[in-house]
Amino acid sequence: MFIVTLCIVLSVVNYNKADVIKTPTIKLNDGREMPRLALGTWLGNSTKGRIEPLSDEVERAVVAAIDVGYRHVDTAYAYKVENQVGRAIARKVAEGIPREELFITTKLWNDRHAKDAVVPALRESLQALKLEYVDLYLIHWPVGQFSNQTFDYTHYLETWRGMMDAKRLGLARSIGLSNFNEQQIDRILLNHLDTPAVLQVEVNLNLQQPALLAYCRAKNIAVMGYTPFGSLFPGKARPDAPPPRFNDAELVAMANRYNKTVTQVVLQYLLNLGVVPIPKALSAAHILTNFEVFDFHLSAEDSERMKNYDRHYRTIPQLKWIEHPFYPFEKEN
Ligand SMILES: NC(=O)c1ccc[n+]([C@@H]2O[C@H](COP(=O)([O-])OP(=O)(O)OC[C@H]3O[C@@H](n4cnc5c(N)ncnc54)[C@H](OP(=O)(O)O)[C@@H]3O)[C@@H](O)[C@H]2O)c1
Ligand SMILES: *[C@@H]1O[C@H](CO)[C@@H](O)[C@H](O)[C@H]1NC(C)=O
Ligand SMILES: *[C@@H]1O[C@H](CO)[C@@H](O)[C@H](O)[C@H]1NC(C)=O
Ligand SMILES: *[C@@H]1O[C@H](CO)[C@@H](O)[C@H](O)[C@H]1NC(C)=O
Repeated sequence: MFIVTLCIVLSVVNYNKADVIKTPTIKLNDGREMPRLALGTWLGNSTKGRIEPLSDEVERAVVAAIDVGYRHVDTAYAYKVENQVGRAIARKVAEGIPREELFITTKLWNDRHAKDAVVPALRESLQALKLEYVDLYLIHWPVGQFSNQTFDYTHYLETWRGMMDAKRLGLARSIGLSNFNEQQIDRILLNHLDTPAVLQVEVNLNLQQPALLAYCRAKNIAVMGYTPFGSLFPGKARPDAPPPRFNDAELVAMANRYNKTVTQVVLQYLLNLGVVPIPKALSAAHILTNFEVFDFHLSAEDSERMKNYDRHYRTIPQLKWIEHPFYPFEKEN
């Protein structure tokens, strides 16, 4: 009797283990696979400015995320949390998660745009992350700026050549761009340099970027979408931000039709656009619900409703760089 009970208990435990949701992946143009959803790790800005990291809040979030099945973490040198991400990965790898199962993305900051500065910058990130390689290294912005705040006019083609060196050295398995526009990406392609595997840009209900997504689809460049919740939450929305908020009646009705939350239907819509969303969450409950988005699909009518929220509205225009020749966004903001 005891043995039978034990067997049942063990098989239930095993079942649950195997039942951890496995993230689907997409194939990059360099042949590698990238998980379809990533945990974001930028702590964000409050009304008083940048939120500084404390000690282990991001470490705990990354551990919680890996425990529920996330296999992709998005970070950056500029977020000042690579050390926390590194500790979380080390812990999970020590507990038996194979390093190859994880996909770690980080980014080159604007003060290291010289071609020969890229590899040393990546080595610094790798040291903080306690890794031999990252899966994806991105140029964070096309705009260069020295640490004394004066603009660095180094051309992003030079920076990209440094990224190609990092890949050749095996320090980054894949390389890509963030916050580049179509003309800037074209410039790289026309110079017969490596095609970026990924473009990471803001994509959410108010900024759906249909033209840029179509361009990337045509060039076989995968798109990661940052700030997936846009202005859904009043704490993050600027006063001029267009609707909807998280309690919008139409969104709530939509979520109810699938027995899902508003954030889950929003993430499913972004997945359906072909985007790899990067929801950031420190709360364990948020981390879990944001991952439970692979088991349903939106109807054509509901997708159309979502599409109608597009307002070409950017939450992160970075206007402080608007005078830089490589400022990537529309200037009439
Ligand atoms: N390449 C770039 O230039 C760039 C720029 C911006 C962002 N990013 C990346 O994209 C990631 C995401 O963007 P983001 O951090 O700007 O914003 P976001 O992911 O759209 O929103 C994060 C906020 O939403 C809250 N939240 C998350 N899940 C929730 C849920 N299920 N219910 C209610 N609230 C929820 C979080 O709260 P809690 O934390 O309290 O749980 C946090 O306050 C960043 O962390 C970063 O990795 C990249
Ligand atoms: C966050 O705040 C800092 C300091 O005020 C500012 O320099 C930075 O541009 C802000 N970042 C974003 C993405 O708004
Ligand atoms: C800022 O730093 C750059 C690079 O180190 C240097 O060339 C430039 O002269 C500095 N500018 C000022 C105003 O200090
Ligand atoms: C609705 O979702 C909740 C939470 O995921 C779950 O517990 C419940 O069983 C679901 N109800 C139906 C009718 O599917």
